[in-house]
Amino acid sequence: MNTQQMDIKSGVTVPDEELDRQKEYEREVRELLHKRYPDALPLAFVHSYGCQQNVSDGEKLKGQLAQMGYGFCDSPEGAKLILYNTCAVRENAEDRVFGNVGALKKLKKQQPDLLIGLCGCMTQQQQVADKIKQSYPYVDLVFGTHALHRLPELLYQTLTGNRRVFQVENSDGVIAEGLPVRRDSALKANLPVMYGCNNFCTYCIVPHVRGRERSRDPEAVLAEARQLVEHGYKEITLLGQNVNSYGKDLSCGVDFAGLLRRINDIPGEFVIRFMTSHPRDCTRELIDAIAQCEKVCNHIHLPVQSGCNRVLQAMNRHYVKEDYKKLIDYARAKIPDVIFTSDIIVGFPGERYEEFLETLELIKAVRYHALFTFIYSPRVGTKAASMDDPVPAEEKGAWFRELLAVQQDIGLALFHSMEGQTQRVLVEGESRSDPGRLTGRNYGNILVEFPGDASLIGSFADVTITGAKPGILFGELKKRF
Ligand code: SAH
Ligand code: SF4
Ligand code: F3S
Repeated sequence: MNTQQMDIKSGVTVPDEELDRQKEYEREVRELLHKRYPDALPLAFVHSYGCQQNVSDGEKLKGQLAQMGYGFCDSPEGAKLILYNTCAVRENAEDRVFGNVGALKKLKKQQPDLLIGLCGCMTQQQQVADKIKQSYPYVDLVFGTHALHRLPELLYQTLTGNRRVFQVENSDGVIAEGLPVRRDSALKANLPVMYGCNNFCTYCIVPHVRGRERSRDPEAVLAEARQLVEHGYKEITLLGQNVNSYGKDLSCGVDFAGLLRRINDIPGEFVIRFMTSHPRDCTRELIDAIAQCEKVCNHIHLPVQSGCNRVLQAMNRHYVKEDYKKLIDYARAKIPDVIFTSDIIVGFPGERYEEFLETLELIKAVRYHALFTFIYSPRVGTKAASMDDPVPAEEKGAWFRELLAVQQDIGLALFHSMEGQTQRVLVEGESRSDPGRLTGRNYGNILVEFPGDASLIGSFADVTITGAKPGILFGELKKRF
């Protein structure tokens, strides 16, 4: 790393001394746990809600816990530590967490040495932390996204003190390199390339709970990617709330297209995915890089949110539907088999039915293979939460169902149009409903099911598509590798 880069990054990178201090706490906790549980490894149940970024954070939480001497279990029963890594993106995400935490009250009564912790996006909000403090007295430890690397210290305080630990101070965010990671899969890996978001879409809580955009050093990303390939990972997903902004805060001149090219150059048999692309910053250079890099899947998740320019402006999205469509056309010209997916919000404050119909028109014009659709949910502290929202929930629900029906037909027609094509699939496991059949994902991350034996799991296979149902393709094995 040259000195200029050091200067740029020194404000956000957690210094080595701080990471060493956390290592000391790791050792202290390990000794403490060993004394407290001399006969068996104490188990932790860590569950991450929300997006891939949160799942990736959860893998770092587990990495740190493993260093401290915890084993892991798949359910709250039997755990000595329960840690929920929460999501705040919509109200129902928060409700689910509160419901699950409520259910732990009984467990804590039966087992007073159980530690309960909450962390992540939801607890980065002061009003949520306050609510937990008042209404959930059996929660021992609460911390936000910015304190992830301080888990050893916070856990030490929780284990040794006789009071509850809260660490939810807000910040622009940091980058902690070199934290231990305990990955959920031996096949597919998350690789964060940047953290935070600067876009402040008016409906969205993410920039409020994850701080400002900050890119990891490209050499650190490349080193991690190389290590993943060496360890046999077959799929690497590059993560960021807006990967197209990658590098804007660095002085080394690497942008996201450049980063993709460099990861693509790593020798080995693996594929590269990335999410999420913001349409505003999705450049022609990036599309060209996807077209030219053979390991990068021809799939672009390009959330449009709405097909109405007035609503897009009120959302602070900084693009118009005409430019969005031009981008799609450019990508289709460069990458003929490209698969597009998107996110849509129905019922943004003040949205009228005619404006919603513009979204339907856009969906029909673009023809996405899949959509993630959400009814607008007001989030405390965001601009949209104070906008007039006169449309009743039942009406928004009806629009939402209309959208789903339109998309179901489009998606299924596109799936059927793949019949006869042979596609490379990463085989992930046996079908739950029908062992003897295997499941995997094609380049568009679409589920593919086909007959085959378990020896194929963990490798790529060429599968000829023979049929489709909503959300799933069926096929026959053409070639194994
Ligand atoms: N950074 C990504 C998405 C992050 S959140 C991007 O910009 O595309 C994932 C999706 O949740 C968003 O694309 C949006 O469709 C949805 N979402 C975010 N806030 C929401 C809210 N308040 N109500 C409903 N949906 C929301
Ligand atoms: Fe939220 Fe917009 Fe940032 Fe995505 S780009 S995380 S929707 S503020
Ligand atoms: Fe992700 Fe939810 Fe946070 S979507 S960034 S975990 S608010």
